[in-house]
Amino acid sequence: MVDVILGLQWGDEGKGKIVDYFAPHYDVVARFQGGPNAGHTLYVDGKKVVLHQIPSGIFHQNCVNLIGNGVVLDPVTLKRECDTVASFGIDVKKNLFISEKTNLIVPTHRALDKASEMQKGDGKIGSTLKGIGPAYMDKTGRNAIRVGDLLSKNFTTQYIKLRLKHQKLLDNFHFIEDISAWEEEFFEAVEFLKTLNIVSGEYFINKQIAEGKKVLAEGAQGTMLDIDFGTFPFVTSSNTISAGVCTGLGVSPQKINEVIGVTKAYCTRVGSGAFPTELHDATGEELRKIGNEFGATTGRPRRCGWIDLVALKYTCMLNGITKVVMTKADVLDSFKELNACTAYKIGEKITDEIPFEINKINITPEYKILQGWHCDSSKINNVANLPKDMSSYIEFINKFIGAPVKYISNGPGREQIIVL
Ligand code: GDP
Ligand code: IMO
Ligand code: MG
Repeated sequence: MVDVILGLQWGDEGKGKIVDYFAPHYDVVARFQGGPNAGHTLYVDGKKVVLHQIPSGIFHQNCVNLIGNGVVLDPVTLKRECDTVASFGIDVKKNLFISEKTNLIVPTHRALDKASEMQKGDGKIGSTLKGIGPAYMDKTGRNAIRVGDLLSKNFTTQYIKLRLKHQKLLDNFHFIEDISAWEEEFFEAVEFLKTLNIVSGEYFINKQIAEGKKVLAEGAQGTMLDIDFGTFPFVTSSNTISAGVCTGLGVSPQKINEVIGVTKAYCTRVGSGAFPTELHDATGEELRKIGNEFGATTGRPRRCGWIDLVALKYTCMLNGITKVVMTKADVLDSFKELNACTAYKIGEKITDEIPFEINKINITPEYKILQGWHCDSSKINNVANLPKDMSSYIEFINKFIGAPVKYISNGPGREQIIVL
């Protein structure tokens, strides 16, 4: 059986910590989409580690980790990350597997990402510039190079062909930066990648499932960044929702069991696009400061605001969420009152659905005001000690979104989680 952990907002919900927390109960942890645009933060032996390409189960010796076919893989980031993981005594040659059908990010994808964003000017997506969009375009355009191709003697010819195609596009963008240093590190990293376990991901995972092993699929980004259902065009280029697990790993829908959604107790977003509950005032600033809301991949300050239950209800529906994990509850400790958005006011109309034109229209959030708990929640380790006002906040959310919050994360540490 396959359980899934994914983000219910615009990313950075704390998926990495939660996957790391659950990983000891699983035999396999698998990434099914996204690439090095992801930044998943874990604390291992008290040390902070940010993973971009490797699944967050890598620090558990009894767990094998799979990079699935739905992922786009930058060999340079992977090599760097493998070095970090190895410094903790983890043997990636034993614990990490990569699907031969995973698509590669090449240096010109990064250049194209940059050129495309520059051309968009004020309308830019706010991409992480890791080459995600161009890499997925080459996948659906049927031009990409896949990990399995690295083992063929035609790889260099394939690379040169793609490089020439990209050069024409870059010329159109008048992109003139020298990327030869990127290419040098790319080819070095490719040689390293060839020494790792390259497998047929779909047979690998289905054999594990047939043997009764437990698989945990780890999402990247968040549902509101999904290519189809997010705030398009300000989204990423993959299906971040639970349906992406089937295409991103090669497992059938019948194999999917729990779908665990992760949400912050408030809301953040990096990059451009709609964010109805965003706060441009001192409260937003306070959330950023207390929550240390700076991007794990790019270091950019995250936009902050109140929890958006209209969006959460939508993302629970899209994913078929069975359980919710609410992270960063401790960040709200000092707030006297909390706001939870229950509807959008658009002109004279009030709706509790996500409008098609979300990026283009003026939305005023309608809020339910709830009492803050006003105490240090970070030391609580038992549901019996939960402040009454935190229980009320959670009850209100459960009722509104129609899915139960079953875990509260009250600090970045591995052990800081309350089971409800
Ligand atoms: P991800 O991309 O969903 O894995 O999330 P990120 O790692 O990008 O961002 C989450 C940030 O919040 C990281 O810095 C985590 O260490 C931190 N974090 C996770 N859970 C909690 C929590 O419950 N409380 C606090 N204060 N920080 C948390
Ligand atoms: P994790 O897995 C937050 C955002 C970017 C940009 C948009 C498109 O850590 O939650 P892309 O590089 O994909 O072309 O960027 O999506 N974005 C993320 N925001 N967390 C992420 O990943 C993100 N990955 C991409 O900021 O707005
Ligand atoms: Mg992140």
